[in-house]
Amino acid sequence: MDQPFSKRNPVFEGVEFGIGCWAWGDRMVWGYGRGYSEDDLRAAFAHALELGITFFDTAEVYGLGLSEKLLGKFICESGASVKVATKFMPFPWRLSRSSLMRALRNSLKRLGLSRVDLYQIHFPLPPLTVETWMAAMLDAHQAGLTAAIGVSNFNRQQTQRAYEMLARHGVTLASNQVEYHLLNREIEKNGLLKLCQELGVTVIAYSPLAMGLLTGKYTAENPPHGTRGGRYSRKYLERIQPLILQLRRIGANHDDKTPAQVALNWVLCKGALPIPGAKTFEQVEQNAGALGWRLSDEEVQTLDEISEQVSRES
Ligand SMILES: NC(=O)c1ccc[n+]([C@@H]2O[C@H](COP(=O)([O-])OP(=O)(O)OC[C@H]3O[C@@H](n4cnc5c(N)ncnc54)[C@H](OP(=O)(O)O)[C@@H]3O)[C@@H](O)[C@H]2O)c1
Repeated sequence: MDQPFSKRNPVFEGVEFGIGCWAWGDRMVWGYGRGYSEDDLRAAFAHALELGITFFDTAEVYGLGLSEKLLGKFICESGASVKVATKFMPFPWRLSRSSLMRALRNSLKRLGLSRVDLYQIHFPLPPLTVETWMAAMLDAHQAGLTAAIGVSNFNRQQTQRAYEMLARHGVTLASNQVEYHLLNREIEKNGLLKLCQELGVTVIAYSPLAMGLLTGKYTAENPPHGTRGGRYSRKYLERIQPLILQLRRIGANHDDKTPAQVALNWVLCKGALPIPGAKTFEQVEQNAGALGWRLSDEEVQTLDEISEQVSRES
């Protein structure tokens, strides 16, 4: 079931798992500064390194640039060699190919780096075409500002177009970062996962814990706070509980793995690369416990079935 690692772009060599940095500095959705601080994030970063996790995903828009700044600060303080992925947002006012290079130079300044490992188009937004942005990516790649080129939120057709445009120049599309977890299996149904696996494009699974829901800590009685809370109705939080229960049951058969660890392992079993967001030492510690073991095929199937059921009920 796994995507063979040999087919992956060299940028992902030794990378099975990453840390998502959206919440790092983001006040609007994640409430940075209320409940977690720069010191918590520093501890999360340091612990990831201790556990051998060296792939970090950020974006120019996260925390309006603060996520890149914090990540850059921690990298500089630690002196460690890590792999950094960031993203370009094709805002509708960015009307020329050269805007990507300008944005990338600004990201590099915030990160304190001379190049990133992976630069991704955050969303396939109009008006410029996929081909235009891939041409801009080739400029950045040739200038040595990014080791590899990725996309995010691209559908099948857009992925194929990006892949072909780069292939014409002898460059491979390294990855497509899309939402993928037990409560959203759209990419299995619409053929995107299969296409990426055929092309050797790594699927980076974002929100692999469904923004925290798959940890099992949120219920109808204890919904997530703030903007995030508004996304999930009481009914929805009730509806997903059988899935959480199954995650707990399966976890109990694997040395008491937590629902989060089982949910992340499920993503690994599907051949995708999960990048769970983590705000603290403890969250990094727990999420890293998804590594080093595997669910059986039967357990993956059981989770597939129950995820179908809770998604179907309305
Ligand atoms: N390309 C895109 O368009 C896009 C979109 C979304 C995300 N992403 C990327 O994907 C990354 C991950 O997605 P995400 O942050 O949306 O969601 P996620 O990884 O599904 O959930 C992360 C959140 O869950 C909670 N959590 C994590 N581990 C936990 C643990 N072990 N125990 C208890 N709670 C835990 C934390 O929030 P609380 O403690 O507040 O619950 C954490 O911020 C992002 O950081 C970003 O890099 C990309």
